[in-house]
Amino acid sequence: MDLFLTPDDLAKSLRLDVAEGLAGTPKTLPPKWFYDERGSALFEDITRLEEYYPTRREREILTARAAEIADLTGATTLVELGAGSGEKTRLLLAALAGTLEEYVPVDVSGDFLEEAAAAIAADHPGLTVRPVVADYEKHLNLLPTGSRRLVAFLGGTIGNMPPAARIGFLGGLRATMGPDDALLLGCDLVKDPERIVRAYDDAQGVTAEFNKNVLRVINRELDADFEPDAFEHRALWNASDEWIEMRLRSLRDQTVRIGALDLTCEFAKDEEMRTEISAKFRRERLATELGTAGLRMAEFWTDEAGDFSLCLARPA
Ligand code: AVJ
Repeated sequence: MDLFLTPDDLAKSLRLDVAEGLAGTPKTLPPKWFYDERGSALFEDITRLEEYYPTRREREILTARAAEIADLTGATTLVELGAGSGEKTRLLLAALAGTLEEYVPVDVSGDFLEEAAAAIAADHPGLTVRPVVADYEKHLNLLPTGSRRLVAFLGGTIGNMPPAARIGFLGGLRATMGPDDALLLGCDLVKDPERIVRAYDDAQGVTAEFNKNVLRVINRELDADFEPDAFEHRALWNASDEWIEMRLRSLRDQTVRIGALDLTCEFAKDEEMRTEISAKFRRERLATELGTAGLRMAEFWTDEAGDFSLCLARPA
């Protein structure tokens, strides 16, 4: 396993993110810290909720298009950014079996990565599996290059980045791409806001637990005393920016102590802290953003219902 991000680096960036985020007005926390073991399990639960359509829709597109993706790319290396549960990966690996030599799952945490990589290696004799622990917002230039790379960034996770960061990320990725490389990008699409809000505010409250999990992570990692139940989950559609926002609203005036930062932080009753944006896209806007980053949208596929998209982009 290649380690470009040590547990110590990760701890430092959590401290920095929390110190910065809590000092801001409004307070914010970046969504990357949801995903400890419990948070990852909660996200897996979310993907199976009736209300949460993206995972199901993206799988539908991949199932329909995997063979075409294989034909179009002839990929010898598959780099997967934010290696998720592996189900979608398996679809891609099966379709690419004719040309693929190497699979490179990239994640910020080595904990699950090593296991997931071993399972995939066991099922694909002859495939070199090279897990990389890295932050894909910082270490794109360290990822293996080679001819005919397919970089997959699925699930709509690019929507977690605000527009400027997105362009920066895509431009940075473009800079590492050779002429025969391609990007496979999953993006959720703009649709009836009510459906989007329900996907992020499910009836069972799984997303609420997922949202509050970031407080538990900070409690554990930074010796803090957040009371998760003193906050309420909120999901709201931001119509002008076309993104969903998750927030945690303080149910009372309260003071939180973050020991590792030697910081005391006040929350007013009803104060809302933003914990995630998840941008929804339109085809045109996506093509424009890709263009700004020096990429060309070569293919754009959606599911039957037009809820989610997969696009294949190449250096312009
Ligand atoms: C894993 C980032 C794609 O934005 O839909 C699910 C995370 N947040 N429910 C998304 C998430 C709330 C998810 N991504």
